[in-house]
Amino acid sequence: MSEPIELYSTAIDADPFPMYARLREDHPCYWSPSANIWFLSRYEDVFNAAQDWETYSSSRGNLIDEIPGRSGGTLGTTDPPRHDRLRLLAQSAFTKRNIEYLAAPAVEIADQAVARILEHGGRFDFVSDFSSIVTVGLLFRMLGLPAANPAEIRHKVVLSISTDKERRGRNDTLNAAFFDLSSFIASEVTKRRADPQDDLVTRLAEAEIDGDRLSEREVVLTTSMFVVAGVESLSSFMSLFALNLARFPQARARLVADPTLVEQAIEESLRYNTSAQRFKRSLTRDVELHGQTMRAGDSVVLAYGSANRDHRKFENPDVYDIDRRPMGHLGFGVGKHFCIGNQLARLVTRLAMQRFLAAIPDYELTRPDFGWVPSSNFRSPMALPFQVV
Ligand code: HEM
Repeated sequence: MSEPIELYSTAIDADPFPMYARLREDHPCYWSPSANIWFLSRYEDVFNAAQDWETYSSSRGNLIDEIPGRSGGTLGTTDPPRHDRLRLLAQSAFTKRNIEYLAAPAVEIADQAVARILEHGGRFDFVSDFSSIVTVGLLFRMLGLPAANPAEIRHKVVLSISTDKERRGRNDTLNAAFFDLSSFIASEVTKRRADPQDDLVTRLAEAEIDGDRLSEREVVLTTSMFVVAGVESLSSFMSLFALNLARFPQARARLVADPTLVEQAIEESLRYNTSAQRFKRSLTRDVELHGQTMRAGDSVVLAYGSANRDHRKFENPDVYDIDRRPMGHLGFGVGKHFCIGNQLARLVTRLAMQRFLAAIPDYELTRPDFGWVPSSNFRSPMALPFQVV
């Protein structure tokens, strides 16, 4: 019997890819006795499980260390048919056509952030000085929430998706950060009920499913998750993209010379280095896979980040190649829970990074020990200390 494999640790927050490779090759359906969870790491298994929502249910939460009280109240934590009805209510706000109005503000906010970086001498933290500012600014505008301090929001969002560094799992401080964020959103929902506006929060507050209004809890939790999923996934993804371009200067030089390549480089970054690494499902029946029996009620990790590095699907998967067309990557998941914010994330990242690279074509990482958010789901740099060259 080989040594149990540690699924979560500070080292794995920073670099999960060697562990993924070991799991894919030797233990494709791995039971972790310490985390009490199954772990699927191969592309085909993750893809099939994500499509089969009847067997792999999200109704007990999709975060590996779930926030108390959240399951059943958000898109990511409900199954069809309720999921589909909830999704239909929000979907139109996220279509390509309906988010185009965010293009001009994206450019404006990115240009202002870059100007401040250059004014301050060119040493900067990409996370707090760029990606959080762009992300919080745009998402709050889209949702119709009042302008907020990006550093403070990102801080609360990071705690909302973190796990306790030592013990793993949630703790009171982490839960309090999410409740704080939700109470701020609850007060905004109350205001919308009294004074409706033309925004997504009002639409959710007034929406009905089968003649029933969404409950206060559902509106607040759904909006909170747009903030958490949007701010965390998007700002961390943008940061990882910028990190890839710092580590692969030849790729960066090509994007600077031809900014239209940013679009395809985003797809490769979603494959190579996605922020949303792993999500949870709960089994509704027994499943046999690779000689193992997973029992009804067991929790299962779908490791999208590992599936994206599976050589059975992608040639030379550990190579960052902006000319690759990574068809079928799972950076946004697949199936019923496919990321509703995918078009928004692509648009904002493309515009923001094009503006960033136009003003700062050459930059480097000043310290490799910048730290990673402790999280069982996400891979997020705490900070990215860069210097303009
Ligand atoms: C590059 C940035 C982003 C990445 C990498 C990402 C990734 C993902 C992934 C992998 C899932 C699937 C979760 C699962 O299978 O359980 C997901 C779902 C979701 N994402 Fe994103 N996301 C990003 C940006 C956004 C943005 C900007 C928003 C909203 C403002 C958003 C909102 C959501 C929501 C609400 C779900 C649940 C959808 C459902 O269950 O129907 N995401 N995202």
